[in-house]
Amino acid sequence: DTQTLRDWDRRHIWHPFTQMKEWEESEPVVIVEGEGSWIIDSEGKRYLDGVAAIWTNVHGHCRREINEALKAQVDRLEHSTLLGLTNDRAVVLAKRLAEIAPPGLCKVFYSDNGSTAVEVGVKMAFQFWRHEGKPEKSRFISFTSAYHGDTLGAVSVGGIDLFHGVFRPLLFPTIQAPAPYCYRCPMGRDTPAACGMECLTELERIMESHAGEVAGLVIEPLVQGAGGMIVQPEGFLKGVRELCDRHDILMIADEVAVGFGRTGAMFACGREGITPDIMALSKGITAGYMPLAATLATQQVYDAFLGEYREMKTFFHGHTFTGNPLGCAVALASLDLFESDRLLGKLPNKIKLLQEKLKGLIELEHVGDVRQCGMIAAVELVRDRATKEPFDWEERVGVRVCLEARTHGVFLRPLGNVIVIFPPLAITAEEIDFLVDGLEKSIHTVTGG
Ligand code: LLP
Repeated sequence: DTQTLRDWDRRHIWHPFTQMKEWEESEPVVIVEGEGSWIIDSEGKRYLDGVAAIWTNVHGHCRREINEALKAQVDRLEHSTLLGLTNDRAVVLAKRLAEIAPPGLCKVFYSDNGSTAVEVGVKMAFQFWRHEGKPEKSRFISFTSAYHGDTLGAVSVGGIDLFHGVFRPLLFPTIQAPAPYCYRCPMGRDTPAACGMECLTELERIMESHAGEVAGLVIEPLVQGAGGMIVQPEGFLKGVRELCDRHDILMIADEVAVGFGRTGAMFACGREGITPDIMALSKGITAGYMPLAATLATQQVYDAFLGEYREMKTFFHGHTFTGNPLGCAVALASLDLFESDRLLGKLPNKIKLLQEKLKGLIELEHVGDVRQCGMIAAVELVRDRATKEPFDWEERVGVRVCLEARTHGVFLRPLGNVIVIFPPLAITAEEIDFLVDGLEKSIHTVTGG
């Protein structure tokens, strides 16, 4: 029963990103079922999954078509290695990914989570320049408030001190550029009218001052996720692509969170019509079902690794569960659903509904900023709207709002003072209303305004 499960959990599970002392004193919700946009606990209570199982879910929980594809695959082949062999599901998926990816990304390197997908991209870019005879191009440009995962290479290119500070001595140094954060503009131009995209000018200055030493730049296209769902101004991504071209820097796009329809287009890079040299995918790739990731590369990147074995140009990297057929079968079923549900075609309406609905929040006394990109939205809570003074982090206002939301049947997870809205893309109009109504009441109750 629930109490036994809670006891065993508190005794044996060490939860991610969790102060376990607090957890042990809490009564954790035990999820046992999922259905569409909803997750259901061991006592039968239903919660709208406002964060899509940590930003992964696309077609809803327990979609029949995906369940069936998974069941069919498990009876044929559960796993076989890509080290020395290939398998049919991995082959077909690679071809499908190349077809839908930004044009030019035709090579697929599989792994099993977002961090590894980014690490693979970083290692590829590093080794690429060795083969090009430019080993001095060995450094990486990363952005403030970036998040690319928790393994050491991914942490090295991240920019969130709260998560990464303690590991600093273990990380490789990067060149950090200011990321656009329009609500708190790093260039001090806090109004759209004053914006001259000086963050791009600054990026160019950084590239010039490190001319010839930079292998790659790592970016979350359109939205920085864990940094606080920070939406980039239109044209920024395209500008970054142009600067990378001009300075001969490989652009590594981390679409782990924003890929697979999340921003309204299949890939965020597509919205600005650009192709990165390397692109990391995970999360939505299996619609939130299975751990699978892929790092896509252009022919040009791939070709640099070709040679006789003795030339040592091989990419010596690979994970045990690379190209897992169960994950690939589910990913294929998800891509089929994108088509049969005409999901991308339905998104503009949902995005507009969400936008309309969020307008109600802007009036609340402690809502400083409401930002949205496709089916990602964020509400930044502040103590004082006029000065944008944040709540002290010790007050845990975000956590308290999200706990309150559970009493309204909505599950949310904050990033500090930022409330994240990241529902399954299959969410209905009624569910969008339910989600935002629950959030509005919760903000009101917790902040008193
Ligand atoms: N890249 C991006 C853009 C991501 O958002 C993530 C994970 C990764 C890479 C790494 O993927 P993974 O290795 O986890 O499969 N710490 C935050 C949430 C992070 C969410 C996941 N993003 C929190 O405490 O809520």
